[in-house]
Amino acid sequence: MNDLIAKLPKAELHLHIEGTLEPELLFTLAQKNNVVIPYPSVEAVKKAYRFTSLQSFLDIYYAGAAVLIGESDFFELTWAYLLKCQEQNVLHVEIFFDPQTHTARGIAFETVIRGITRALERAEAELGISAYLIMCFLRHLSEESAFETLQASLPFKEKIIGVGLDSSEVGHPPSKFKRLFEACAKEGYVVVAHAGEEGDSSYIWEAIRLLHVSRIDHGIRCDEDDSLVAYLRAHRIPLTVCPLSNVKLRAVNDMKNHNILKLLHQGLLVTVNSDDPAYFGGYVNENYEALIQNLHVSPEELKILAKNSFEASFLPQERKEYFYRYIDAL
Ligand code: HPA
Ligand code: ZN
Repeated sequence: MNDLIAKLPKAELHLHIEGTLEPELLFTLAQKNNVVIPYPSVEAVKKAYRFTSLQSFLDIYYAGAAVLIGESDFFELTWAYLLKCQEQNVLHVEIFFDPQTHTARGIAFETVIRGITRALERAEAELGISAYLIMCFLRHLSEESAFETLQASLPFKEKIIGVGLDSSEVGHPPSKFKRLFEACAKEGYVVVAHAGEEGDSSYIWEAIRLLHVSRIDHGIRCDEDDSLVAYLRAHRIPLTVCPLSNVKLRAVNDMKNHNILKLLHQGLLVTVNSDDPAYFGGYVNENYEALIQNLHVSPEELKILAKNSFEASFLPQERKEYFYRYIDAL
């Protein structure tokens, strides 16, 4: 089965590039850039990666991102992730980045986007991995700050396929960003949002009805509401599920109780993703492996999950069909 996972072509649709910062690179960049971090060693960094909630993770994740200063740092971060994709046969990626985490520290939007896109272009050319970029707004910050970020993105619009919404969910519902997302759609951005990770199913309904998302990130709390599950199924709205993340942040108490397969069996378009792999103990393949170890997923279901990852992507239809044939032939 692990062999099948390794061989399957996969797309990753829920991945925060800042969440791929491995402790070793964090430590190296802190020294290079003279950024003081509260850890004396790589081992101490690893020890700090124990979380009790989304917020307990976000505090450490934002602190870690402070070591990213120059364009080459963003390049190196992104390139390391793409090499991991090559190793795991992840052939298409839709990557989130959080511009406000960097612009708030005085790093130019341009520095961030140039470093990331240089790595993406190299991956297309040298690794045969296709990549789209999705800019996320931090929902704990104001609507005004988000509008400023939208403005800053416009000169780089051709490099960004869409927008998302991340950070602290509870208390910051999608309704807070209704006008922003209308403006984003007018600019031609596709729209996704994190919803139903820690927030209840009403956050998912708001993301659908008020933000008009074409995908829900996480969405695991949809199963509190049968009419929502029916709606997601009828409209084939994808959920980008992140199993290891959900257990690490205690949105789910044990992998054995994760509802991803239940949702699959209910006919939902669920996909497997890593979210912040450097913090949660695994990249895409390790997330699939966790389903084998804990949920008795079958080889047929693994193939469906891999196909779903392409169906739920923003790739052109003919490229999706190429991957369906590739998977059918395995
Ligand atoms: N949820 C919300 N915000 C985030 C996450 C997440 O899983 N990862 C990085 N930012
Ligand atoms: Zn996420």
